[in-house]
Amino acid sequence: MSGKLSIVGLGPGDDRYLTREALDALAKAEALYGYGPYLDRVPSRKGQSRHASDNREEAARARAALSRVASGANVAIVSGGDPGVFAMAATVCEEIAVGPDSWRALDVAIVPGITAMLAVAARAGAPLGHDFCALSLSDNLKPWELIERRLDAAAGAGFVIALYNPVSRARPLQLSKALARLARHLPAATPVIFGHAIGRSDESLAVTTLAHAGDTLADMATLIIVGSRETRVIAREGRAPLVYTPRAVEEAIA
Ligand SMILES: C[S@@+](CC[C@H](N)C(=O)[O-])C[C@H]1O[C@@H](n2cnc3c(N)ncnc32)[C@H](O)[C@@H]1O
Repeated sequence: MSGKLSIVGLGPGDDRYLTREALDALAKAEALYGYGPYLDRVPSRKGQSRHASDNREEAARARAALSRVASGANVAIVSGGDPGVFAMAATVCEEIAVGPDSWRALDVAIVPGITAMLAVAARAGAPLGHDFCALSLSDNLKPWELIERRLDAAAGAGFVIALYNPVSRARPLQLSKALARLARHLPAATPVIFGHAIGRSDESLAVTTLAHAGDTLADMATLIIVGSRETRVIAREGRAPLVYTPRAVEEAIA
C-alpha cells in the first residue's frame, strides 16, 4: 500500500493566492511538511499532523515526507510561490533520484502556485511582456562566478531578468555586485522594480533605475526585476507608473 505526495505551491502571500487545486490537496493531506512560516499560512485541520522544519533542512524534509508516503500516508509538502521555482519540487526529485528504488513508484503530484516573479510583475505593469529569464543570486548551491557569467549572458542577450534570493544575512553584498555587473551591459536609465512581500499585508513596490537601484532596500522577501533596453515606464498623474516591455523588438542587438 502506498499513499500520495502533493507538493503544493501556496503562492506569494495570503490565501487569496491559493488555487482550488492547492486547497483540495491541502484538505486531503493527513500530514503537512514545510518551512514553519509557510505552514503557518495553512489553516489547521482536525486530525492533520504538521511537521515544521528550518529552510536549510529541505533534503531531510523531502526524505521524511517520502518515507511517510511509502508507508501509505497522504502527505503534502508546502512551498511558497510555485514549488517548482527554486523550491521543494526539485528537492523531492533529487531525493527520489538517489533514494530507495521503491520511491520511484510513489504517486507524486506537483501543484503549481503563483511564483514571486509573476506577482511582482503584475503589481508593476507588464515588465515580462517580452523574453525574460529568472536567476537566483544565492551562491549556496552554485559558484558566484557562474552567477556573474549568467548575468552577463542574460543582460547581453536582451532578456528582462528576475532576481530571486537577492540578499541574505550571510550574503549582504551580492545584490550590489550583481547590479554593478548588469550595469556593464545596460543603460543607467534601465527600469528596475523591487517587489517586497507581494501579496502580504506589508507588501511594497519601488520602481527605480539601474543607476539608483543600489539605494533601494532589498531583503530576503524581495524579488527584483531588471528591465531590458526595451523596457519602458509610463508616468501617470496621481497613479503608480506602469512598467512594460513591448512585445516586439525591431532589431537584433549587436
Ligand atoms: C527560495 S526562493 C522561493 C521562490 C518561490 N518558490 C516562488 O515561486 O516564488 C525565495 C525568494 O523568492 C522571492 N519571494 C518569495 N516570496 C515573495 C514575495 N511575496 N514577494 C517578493 N518576493 C518573494 C524572494 O526573492 C525570495 O528571496
